[in-house]
Amino acid sequence: MNTLRGLFVFNLIAFAMAGLAPCIQLNDGYNIPILALGTGRGTIKESETLDQVRQAVFWAIEEGYRHIDTAAIYGDEEQVGLGIAEAINKGIVTRDQLFVTTKLWNDKHARQDVVPALRESLRRLGLDYVDLYLIHFPISEKADGSPDNIDHLETWQGMQEARDLGLARSIGVSNFNITQISRLVESSGVRPAVNQFEVNPTMTQEPLVTHCQNLGIAVMAYSPFGFVVSRKGSQAPPPGVDDPTLVALANKYGKTVEQIVLRYLIERGLIPIPKSTNKGRIAQNIDVFDFQLSDNEVATISRFNKNIRVVNPTDWKDYPNYPFERD
Ligand SMILES: NC(=O)c1ccc[n+]([C@@H]2O[C@H](COP(=O)([O-])OP(=O)(O)OC[C@H]3O[C@@H](n4cnc5c(N)ncnc54)[C@H](OP(=O)(O)O)[C@@H]3O)[C@@H](O)[C@H]2O)c1
Ligand SMILES: *[C@@H]1O[C@H](CO)[C@@H](O)[C@H](O)[C@H]1NC(C)=O
Repeated sequence: MNTLRGLFVFNLIAFAMAGLAPCIQLNDGYNIPILALGTGRGTIKESETLDQVRQAVFWAIEEGYRHIDTAAIYGDEEQVGLGIAEAINKGIVTRDQLFVTTKLWNDKHARQDVVPALRESLRRLGLDYVDLYLIHFPISEKADGSPDNIDHLETWQGMQEARDLGLARSIGVSNFNITQISRLVESSGVRPAVNQFEVNPTMTQEPLVTHCQNLGIAVMAYSPFGFVVSRKGSQAPPPGVDDPTLVALANKYGKTVEQIVLRYLIERGLIPIPKSTNKGRIAQNIDVFDFQLSDNEVATISRFNKNIRVVNPTDWKDYPNYPFERD
């Protein structure tokens, strides 16, 4: 145990010195960097442009990010691709040093729609494969946004076809709950490599995290900052950025409260996806591999849990396969 921990710490230090995030191995053998740049459009300010996504992706790669998270629905795959191309053209990285994640939208859940949808994403990204392709939500919608009722076991077959064609190295899911993960694994016999869902100090998700980790499914933590950063239109539950417990930890380690929150997720074995289009904050968010929180400190942060979601798509609550609590 001590040797393993020592080796782990050694690896963390070695990667930190190179400015990179370490990797963990997925259940299909591929390696995934344990921190990704988020490019989701959910938190953007009015003034933010799509071109800022291109810029952010380029800056992130310059800073040592090797994992970028996007999705067809974000409408920014083209800009993500341009940022990647710029970094490759300037000799900062090669394609095989990068890990690119994108996602299938809800209106492409029919088995025969999956491969064409991924081909469209690849065309926009300017890539010939993605490292990880995720079913974005377990619900399905018709093109007009009305509810559809496609069983995601069928979608999962399409995902396996995409993988078998080499268009995606790894395949996984997002926003699947415990029941849905169990059924997918038991019925198909093919474990998703990843489940991506919300985890942060007000939504700590212990049951779902444990369930996935017990099955060897890696967890990507979206909206990692929770309500520590300001969110438009929501009554922010604690902890905020001025929370005394978080501020004390930040002072102890010489880090910001946001870095403490990212490190909290990393200590739990999760892969946080902080979104920023600001050069300084992009750099700050990957500068979390030169310190560690103790088990007690992790437990202290977990006690902030309120089961309150940043992403709470209640408009879908009457759709088949809605994964969250309905009230
Ligand atoms: N699978 C899904 O259904 C799903 C759902 C939601 C999100 N996601 C993914 O997860 C990513 C992250 O989630 P999110 O965008 O909801 O939230 P987030 O990363 O928790 O928060 C982003 C917000 O925090 C600010 N910020 C970033 N770093 C900061 C720092 N160091 N100090 C202070 N403020 C900071 C950003 O502003 P600036 O840009 O101005 O720095 C932005 O307003 C998304 O971009 C997307 O890729 C996936
Ligand atoms: C997961 O979602 C399904 C479909 O809506 C629902 O029937 C089930 O109760 C949910 N399970 C959990 C653990 O929330």
